[in-house]
Formats: sequence, structure tokens, C-alpha cells
Amino acid sequence: MEKGPAPRKTRSPGSCRIRGLWVSLVSLLLLPQLEGAWVPSDFNLVQPLVTLEQLLWMSGKQIGNVDTFRIPLISATPRGTLLAFAEARKKTSSDEGAKFIAMRRSTDGGATWSPTSFIVDDGDVPDGLNLGAVVGDVETGTMFLFYSLCAHYYGCSVASTMLVWSKDDGITWSPPRNLSLDIGTEMFAPGPGSGIQKRHKPHKGRLIVCGHGTLERDGVSCLISDDNGASWRYGGIINGIPYGELKKPNDFNPDECQPYELPDGSVVINTRNQNNYHCHCRIILRSYDACETLKLQDVTFDKELIDPVVAAGAAVTSSGVIFFSNPAHPDDLLKCH
Ligand SMILES: *[C@@H]1O[C@H](CO)[C@@H](O)[C@H](O)[C@H]1NC(C)=O
Repeated sequence: MEKGPAPRKTRSPGSCRIRGLWVSLVSLLLLPQLEGAWVPSDFNLVQPLVTLEQLLWMSGKQIGNVDTFRIPLISATPRGTLLAFAEARKKTSSDEGAKFIAMRRSTDGGATWSPTSFIVDDGDVPDGLNLGAVVGDVETGTMFLFYSLCAHYYGCSVASTMLVWSKDDGITWSPPRNLSLDIGTEMFAPGPGSGIQKRHKPHKGRLIVCGHGTLERDGVSCLISDDNGASWRYGGIINGIPYGELKKPNDFNPDECQPYELPDGSVVINTRNQNNYHCHCRIILRSYDACETLKLQDVTFDKELIDPVVAAGAAVTSSGVIFFSNPAHPDDLLKCH
């Protein structure tokens, strides 16, 4: 997602997707020549065979007259219901502009889906809502969805961090709560992706939602709640360098991010490497105190996870297998966003 009053870049999500697909075929062919990288058998473990394709939303004024659906999120509730969300950009495809949050729900593992509900409407503002991160609390069953308002300071001067929640497994949603009353108005762009709930010590049960700032004041920070989502505060933060300035190529600038918990109770935050610091690969942040702190000494780089400077997905199964997904290509950097 673009942020701040920085120069606008042009993007074409469609061609980006096609390029990503083409790219993965090419990398498969090239794979045996890559030294010290993946071994071909790793790919054999994960064969992306499409057995069922469900198009949840289609852009182009086909659903509710919405121009563009972007920033899809999907999450299972503690009861096993799937909830899918997306920004429904009312009039244009741009990151700014007025939007709804669209939601669909599946109680049969994704075979069938409820019709689209528009659970949040930001009205007719120049710089409306942006998704976001979703997280559920296993103890109460409550689902929380975070989003931001005025993330680009386009026709507005104060950014807000907003929260809606559902106590009935995603059927109905609360009115928006302005979390900035508690945490301040520094721009915080959650995710995009999922928050986590700690399953292991330390701080078992803690809810953690990580996000980033504007391009100048970028960095990764996490919101944490130790009371099942009733109150939220900032935990650790790791800022870009030089902080508060426009960055140059190869500056340190951690951006969009996805946390997950390892079986040892530490939290990994897999992060977009906005200015290609150290490598054209993902920044790996790690916290050993449930995101209370994020430390420079725990920053590493995963050279196998090539980052064309775009959002990525990461998830861990209960048995500790980590899945990572992004449109990686070593020679096609910085064009795909
Ligand atoms: C949220 O609260 C902050 C802090 O008081 C305020 O500046 C901002 O305008 C509020 N946002 C909304 C959308 O009400």
C-alpha cells in the first residue's frame, strides 16, 4: 500500500498477477542452477494444484457498483468459520478515496459463501479507510478487524486507527471504535494480513496486531492486548533509518508485515523490505517477549524469500510448518506494486 505524501507510483495489479504466475514457472525451470538456494524437492512438497476456484469479488462495478476490490484478507474464527474481507473502493482503484469494507462468510470450509455485506462505510471522504488486519480471541470467540483512516494525508490531516468487532462469529459487527483516542494518531497501517493470538508462553493468550507507518516515518510496530481485546496499547517498535526523512535506495525501511508464532513462543514478523536494505529479500524481525520489544539485534534477512517490494502472506500450522506466499522474482524487482 502506498503511504504518505510521497510521489505516486503507477500500478497495474492485473499484469502483476500474470507476471507473478509466469515468473514462478520460470523460476522452476531455473531452479537447479541456483546455488545454495532451494532444492527442487522443496517445490515438490508444495504443488499448487487448483482444485477449486472461488471468485469472492470482481472489480468493475459488477457488485454493488463498486469500482475495485483490493487488499483481500481471510481468516478462520475460533469456531472454524471463514471470514473474507476486502476494501471495496467505491469510485476509483486508488488507495485513497471512499470505500466500504466488504465481507463474506463461509461455514462449510469455503465451499459456499454468504452474499457480500458492507460492514463499514466511510462515506464520501478523499482519503478513506484502508485494511487491515483481522484477529480472533479463542477465549471469547470475538473477531477483531483493524483498519486506518486518512493513511495518506490526502485532503485530511489526522490519521486514525479504527477497530470493529463481532461477537457472533462474523454475522454482525460493532460500530467503529476510534482506537486513536487511546493510542494516539501516529499513522498505523495494520498488516495487511492477520494478527495472532499467542498460543505459547510468554504471554499466552495475548493478541498481537502489527503494522507500519508512512514512508517517511516508517517502521514496524505492534498493538497488543492482554484483556481479550478490550484495551490495546503499543508494544515494540523498530523504525526505519533515517527516521522521519524520505528514504534513499538501500535505506532500512521495514514496511508491510505479517507476524506468526513459532513453537518456542517467539514471534517472527515477516516484513516488506521497502528500500532493499542489505538484499532484495524479506526482513525478518523476531521478538522473544511477545512483541513487548522489537530489537535491532534480532533483525535478520531471509535471502531465500525474495522481495519485489510488495506485501506477502505467512502462516504457521499447529504442527509448526510455515507457509509463505508472495510474487517473488529475482530479476523483476520494484515493478510489481
Ligand atoms: C480519533 O481520535 C483522534 C484523537 O482524539 C482524533 O484526532 C480523530 O479525529 C478521531 N478520528 C475519528 C475518525 O473520529
